[in-house]
Amino acid sequence: MSRVVCSADLFPEQLERLEAAGHTVVGLPLGNANALAEAIPTADAVICLLNDEIGPRILDAGEHLKIVANVAVGYENIDVAAAQRRGIAVTNTPDVLTEATADHTFALLLATARHVAEADAGIREGRFAPWRLQQPFLGADVHGRTLGIVGLGRIGAAVARRGRFGFDMRILVHSRSGRPDLERDLGAERVSFEALLADSDFVSVHVPLTPETRHLFDAAAFDRMKRSAILINVARGPVVDEAALVGALETGAIAGAGLDVFEGEPAIHPGLIRCRNVVLTPHLGSATLDTRRAMADIAVDNVLAVLAGRPPRTPVTGSSRADSV
Ligand code: NAP
Ligand code: GLV
Repeated sequence: MSRVVCSADLFPEQLERLEAAGHTVVGLPLGNANALAEAIPTADAVICLLNDEIGPRILDAGEHLKIVANVAVGYENIDVAAAQRRGIAVTNTPDVLTEATADHTFALLLATARHVAEADAGIREGRFAPWRLQQPFLGADVHGRTLGIVGLGRIGAAVARRGRFGFDMRILVHSRSGRPDLERDLGAERVSFEALLADSDFVSVHVPLTPETRHLFDAAAFDRMKRSAILINVARGPVVDEAALVGALETGAIAGAGLDVFEGEPAIHPGLIRCRNVVLTPHLGSATLDTRRAMADIAVDNVLAVLAGRPPRTPVTGSSRADSV
C-alpha cells in the first residue's frame, strides 16, 4: 500500500480510484507549502497543482517519492531536472484541456474587442446609452482580421483553427520549430516574432513559461505592435512584463488586453485594474467541469501506473523551468 499526498482538490471519483487500488490518500489544504513539506517524507506519490512549488527542498525530503503528478499542462512549478536526477517521474495533463483553453482564449478575445465586460458593468450600474451610430463601446472587428499566434503548440493551434475557420481570420504564427502541414491547413504564414507583432490585429500568447519566454512581451514588443492591436494572454503571467503592459495600455501603444494569467497571481497589477480596455479572468483557461475532471483523471492514471511499476501515461520529458523562472 502506498501513500499518495494530494494537494489538489480531486473529485470524489478520483479519490475512489486511488483508494480502490489500495492506496492511502493524504489530502492537504490548498496552497499550503508547509503542509506539503511535512507530508513529503512519507509520500510515495504527490498529486499537485500549478501553484505548488516543487523544488529540490521538497524532492530531497521525498525519500520514497516515485512520482510528482501535476494537474496542469504547464509545469514550470516543478524542477523537472532535479526530479529526474533523483529518479522521480514528473507528469502533466496535456491535450484534454486544449479545446477548453482555446475556447476561453476566444472568449477573452471577443470580450476585449467588443467591450463586453465594461458594457455589462455599465448596464448593472444603470447606464444604458441609447442606440446611436457613434455610441459608447464601439469595438474592433474580429472576422477577417489578422491573428498572430505566439507558440503554435496544442493550444495555439486550436486557437488558430477557431480564428481561421470560425472567423475567417488571416493567421500568422511564430514558434521556434515549424509545423508545415498544420501551417498549410491553416493557410498560416510563419513569421519572425517582430513581424508577427507588427502585422497582427490580435496577438495571442501560447508559449510555456521558460527562461527564454519570461518577459517576451516587454516595452519594446508593445512598441512594435499596432496601436489598434489587442494582446491576449492565456499562457503564463510572467511571459508578459505587466508594468510594461500597463504603460503600453495607458499611452495607447496598444488598444487593449484580455488576460487570464498574471505575473504575481493572485495579485493583479493595480494599473490593470485601473485600465478600462482590459478584460481579466482568474486563470480560468481550462475551467470547465468536464475538462477539470479529465485532468484529474490523467493525474490519477499516471500515479496508478507508476505505483504499479508501469510507465506513466503523460510523462514530462523536458524541463521548462530554470532558477530564473
Ligand atoms: P505545447 O503544445 O507545448 O505548446 C507550446 C508551444 O510553444 C510549442 O509549439 C513550442 O514550439 C512553443 N514555444 C516554446 N518556446 C517558445 C519560444 N521561446 N518562442 C516561440 N515559441 C515557443 O503546450 P500547450 O499544451 O499548447 O500549452 C501552452 C501553455 O499554455 C502551457 O505551457 C501553459 O503554461 C499554458 N496554459 C494555460 C492555461 C490556463 O488556464 N490559462 C491552460 C492550459 C495551458 P517550439 O518548441 O517549436 O517553439
Ligand atoms: C493551466 O494553466 C495549465 O497549465 O494547465
